[in-house]
Amino acid sequence: MKLFTVGPVACYPEVLEEMKRQMFSHRSKEYRELHRDTVEKMQRFLETKNQVFLVPSSGTGIMEGSVRNCVEKKMLCCVNGSFGERYVEVGESNGKIVEKLEPKLGSPITPELLEEKLSSCPDVEAVTITHNETSVGLINPLKDLARVVKKHGKLLFVDAVSAMGGTEIRVDEWKIDVCFASSQKCFGLPPGLAVGSVSEEALERSEKAKNKGWYFDFKLLEKYQKTQWSTPMTPAIPQIFALKKMLEMIEERGGKQAHFQLYRKRSEKIMKGVKELNLTLFPERGYESPTVTCVNAPPGVSGLEIYEKMRGKGFELAKGYGDIKEKTFRIGNMGYISFEDIDSMLQALEEVLKKP
Ligand SMILES: Cc1ncc(COP(=O)(O)O)c(C=O)c1O
Repeated sequence: MKLFTVGPVACYPEVLEEMKRQMFSHRSKEYRELHRDTVEKMQRFLETKNQVFLVPSSGTGIMEGSVRNCVEKKMLCCVNGSFGERYVEVGESNGKIVEKLEPKLGSPITPELLEEKLSSCPDVEAVTITHNETSVGLINPLKDLARVVKKHGKLLFVDAVSAMGGTEIRVDEWKIDVCFASSQKCFGLPPGLAVGSVSEEALERSEKAKNKGWYFDFKLLEKYQKTQWSTPMTPAIPQIFALKKMLEMIEERGGKQAHFQLYRKRSEKIMKGVKELNLTLFPERGYESPTVTCVNAPPGVSGLEIYEKMRGKGFELAKGYGDIKEKTFRIGNMGYISFEDIDSMLQALEEVLKKP
């Protein structure tokens, strides 16, 4: 099965090879070196001096951590799909008051909308933004939104789960307080590792936070990182080896800009291909994601049917998600995918559409 999923995605063979290594203790010199090297590589990748934590969980763990460590009472969630809505649920289930900015599904969060909303709720402590809303294949203009958040002096939490590794993120320049992702998306690794940068200000809030729990306590993670180059809990050593290898491969293959360019080229090829099949895209024009293409199913055809038929031809796409489950299907381009695979996937899609 060729994977055009939205995570877990197909992994590079070199990365899988790296994960076969024999284990060692996470309190050993070998682990400290691995941890330190990987953290420093991630800091360079995200252009940040902030702490970057490597947590054995999925990305949602750090999402929950951001709420528990840094929000006392109230937060604003920007929602343009299911994962923005997840942040709302995480906030509310942790007892916070959540304001929502929610444009029509398929539309971006714009700086103007955010400015207006923030002016009407000056008492929020933090703003959450889903950089790339995987459920609808839409990328929000993070850099411009970050400027608005900082103008209002709020903490900025970025769910970069399906963006980090596939498109530019400049943590320090854009002043992002918490920015997290999961290993099984754009880095093309197996699941099990969350990566998150945490700013000094977020750590100060964490210091004062009550009832923040233990597992995602940012101050505790910082303490272990600073004193031992390790984690309080047992880390996902194979995934960390894999991440280090992937970051090295990105460097060897022309650096991160070349890597982001590869993602753009893949998604442009997919978008062009589906348009040539007379299909349309779900998100508003100009905001199409560089990592996942969300396609409207043709009239009278269910997206789920297309998904199933593509499986029959050896291609695993992704089903539509949430409210548009039936109306759309998605084509991920994260991880180990070649241009030839894209050609054959589009060919199969053409055949499926001819015989719905
Ligand atoms: C944008 C976004 N946020 C959060 C998540 C949840 O990630 P995880 O399951 O790794 O916690 C996903 C998963 O698809 C996602 O795409």
